[in-house]
Amino acid sequence: MSVAVLKIRTLPDPVLRQKAKKVTKIDGSVQKLIDDMIDAMHTNAGVGLAAPQVGVSLRVAVIEMPGEELITLINPEIVKRQGEKVVQEACLSVPGYQGEINRAVTVKVKAQDRQGKEFRLKGEGLLAQALEHEIDHLNGIVYVDHIEGPDKLWKLSEQL
Ligand code: NI
Repeated sequence: MSVAVLKIRTLPDPVLRQKAKKVTKIDGSVQKLIDDMIDAMHTNAGVGLAAPQVGVSLRVAVIEMPGEELITLINPEIVKRQGEKVVQEACLSVPGYQGEINRAVTVKVKAQDRQGKEFRLKGEGLLAQALEHEIDHLNGIVYVDHIEGPDKLWKLSEQL
């Protein structure tokens, strides 16, 4: 049986602008949401996805850096940010664009895994960027909000 992959919401969908609700009970519907988000992330070749991007305003995100183990984050919070650097960023919810913004060099995050167990994670480089990006989504923030000028956002086709 084939299962429909969830559609990715794109700007200006209002769900991307809502502050997502905390998950209070990790039940079957949350487990299904996580599985569906993983499918959608893989189908769209993303390195991360937050629940609002599939139309669900809950504090759930998944990240899978190339060659690394998949990370499921429930109710994630950034507890520490260090450093700042200029990075290039894109988002499945802003198709066809790429931009340049500032992100932390390292972040420390606390979250629950899909069994509800609390864990802490330190991310550096691309993982730090992905953690900030996905947690931003849970707060209704999209990377384009961090763009500092019109010359810092471009259409991907213009780059070629
Ligand atoms: Ni995104």
